[in-house]
Formats: sequence, C-alpha cells, structure tokens
Amino acid sequence: MAEFSTSLEKPDSRPAGGLAAAMGRPAAQAPTGRAALSIRNLTKTYASGTQALKGVSLDIAEGDFFALLGPNGAGKTTVIGIVMGLVTKTAGTVSVFGHDIDRDHARARKFIGVVPQELNFNIFEKVMDIVVNQGGYYGIPRKVAIERAEEILHPLGLWEKRWEVSRTLSGGMKRRLMIARALVHRPQFLILDEPTAGVDVELRRGMWDYLRSLRESGTTILLTTHYLEEAEQLCKHAAIINHGEIIASGTIKDILARLKSERVTLDLAAPAAQQAAALLAGYRPVVVDPSTVEVEVDEGRGIGPAVVTLQDNDIPVQMVRPKSGRLEEVFLRLTSGNGGAP
Ligand SMILES: Nc1ncnc2c1ncn2[C@@H]1O[C@H](COP(=O)(O)OP(=O)(O)OP(=O)(O)O)[C@@H](O)[C@H]1O
Ligand SMILES: [Mg+2]
Repeated sequence: MAEFSTSLEKPDSRPAGGLAAAMGRPAAQAPTGRAALSIRNLTKTYASGTQALKGVSLDIAEGDFFALLGPNGAGKTTVIGIVMGLVTKTAGTVSVFGHDIDRDHARARKFIGVVPQELNFNIFEKVMDIVVNQGGYYGIPRKVAIERAEEILHPLGLWEKRWEVSRTLSGGMKRRLMIARALVHRPQFLILDEPTAGVDVELRRGMWDYLRSLRESGTTILLTTHYLEEAEQLCKHAAIINHGEIIASGTIKDILARLKSERVTLDLAAPAAQQAAALLAGYRPVVVDPSTVEVEVDEGRGIGPAVVTLQDNDIPVQMVRPKSGRLEEVFLRLTSGNGGAP
C-alpha cells in the first residue's frame, strides 16, 4: 500500500476545489506564454577551478513541466543553486517571471519553491513547525501558514505525522516533507532537484500524480531526475546537460526523434544465437547468451524482416523487446562521449 495519498478532495476540512483551491489559484489556469525561467549564457567556475557551467541557455514557459537531465556532475544542481541565489554565477543572466535575479533577487525568489537534492530540514523539528516556519521566512502570518500547512500536508499523506519530529519519518516521508515545505508560500514555479531519488516505485508513482495535479493547477515545474522514465511520463520539454553544456533540448518527442536506430533484444525459442547473429549480420548483432541476441534496428526499417529471416531458417523468436527505454537510449548515446551523434 502506498502511504502517499493522491486524493485531493477529502477530508471535509479542506477547501472545495481540491489542490488548485488549496494552492490559492483557479483550477486549469491556462499558460500565458510568459517565460517562468530564462537563462542566458550562464557560466560558473567554482573556486576549485571546476568549470561547472560553460554557457548554458534555457527557457521554460509558464505552465510547462520541464526536465533537466544529465549524468552525475553535469551541472544540474549548479544551475538550480544559481537560480536560487545560493551559488554565485561567474557570468550570464537569469530571470524568473521577468525579474532579473541580480537586480531584483527578492521578487524573483518569491516566485520559486525549491526542493533541494539533499534533505536539509532540522531533524529535531516537528513536521508542522518545519512547514509553518518556512512560511515565516516569506512573511506569511503564522495563522495563515498553519492553514496552508494543513492544505498541503493532507494530499502529501503527512497530516497524521504533523506532530512527529522529522527525524522519525521514513525516507519517502522526508522527501515529501521537503515538497510540503517548498509549497507553503504558494510558489508559481516549483524546482525539484531529484525529488524521487531513493523513493520506491509505488511511492514514486504517487508523487508523479501529485506533481501532475500541481501542474494542472497552474504551477510551472522544473525537475531534475536520473529516472528517465520519470521525465518521459511527466514532462513536455527537456534539456540534456553534459559537462556544463546543453547538448539537446526541445520537446521530449523531438529529443526521442533524434534516435535514428534502436537496440532491440531478441529472445529465441532455442539456443541458436550464433546462427541468428550470422543471419542478421546487417543488424549489427551481439550474442548476449546462447538463446539471446541483440540487434540494432535503423529508423524506418523495423524489426519485422529480421524476425521473418530467423523464422524462415527455423529459428523462432519468442520475444522482441527494446533493450532500454528510448529516452534512456538517446541520453546514453548523447552523453557517452561519441561526439553527441545519436
Ligand atoms: N561547491 C562546489 N565547489 C566546487 N565544485 C563544485 C561545487 N559544487 C559542485 N561542484 C562541481 O561542479 C560540477 C557540477 O556539479 P553539480 O552538483 O552541479 O552536478 P549535478 O549535475 O547536479 O550532478 P548530480 O547528478 O550528481 O547531482 C561537478 O564537477 C562538481 O564536482
Ligand atoms: Mg545534483
């Protein structure tokens, strides 16, 4: 059973209209085409000499659900740190809903709620206090913050735990507490740095539903994740960053279209992988084990002819499966140092 509740209507103590009302804005708010985040030529060289960002430009439209993807050390958290004003940039410009973070930092920050990669609340504080005190940093009166905490903690499945010291929460609950804390000032732009790291599959799906409901109520969301399936499920647009540079960006569909060929695994009904590989020489075959062969299928060609060839040679194919997720495949090819050619 997932502990995560995605029911947004009950119990009765919450306002009618579900999360949209709880978030203080009308449901199904239409995107306006404004840029929630606009980044131009952003560079960052840390004092250690590490060049973490080498000229990153990025636009996220209001109402978008955007994934920033990249391998460890690519620069994702550095981008978020700069947007939040926690990391000093070396050069470039960043504006949030049109407010430049250098000239108008306080205004820009008010738009943003951030869920950092590392858990960073006080483990000795109670769940309710963590959320309410965060409201205090944004000038929200305590009484209002308490009301909002209730609206947020219910759908995140943390209401029962509100008087518990945060140290005693499970790992998945702590991640959700980070989300609750980021929402108390009703940000229009939510940034989540690997929010589902270490969260089990069922809970992750519950979190996806919750994030979708936030997006539907008008919140713009930027997410970093190592689970590419997560980006495929949730996001409309994505950018892939590698060694501090954006190497692909656009709709997830556009990025997937860069995949000109796909690796496919064929499970054979008999241990005939060597013979199969010989018959499928044009498909760049690799014998995985005596009854499994992996081939590469070029765009437009399809796997059908390969299966027919094997069948004609009395090698029945039991199962055809993609070797990995398609986005994962593009990602691996783009970031594997082969010059960026998928
Ligand atoms: N405070 C710091 N001082 C020096 N170097 C840093 C600092 N923070 C990050 N870096 C370096 O900057 C580069 C980018 O790091 P960053 O944390 O932005 O990557 P990331 O894409 O978030 O990686 P991950 O997926 O592992 O979280 C790395 O080489 C990292 O070692
Ligand atoms: Mg990071």
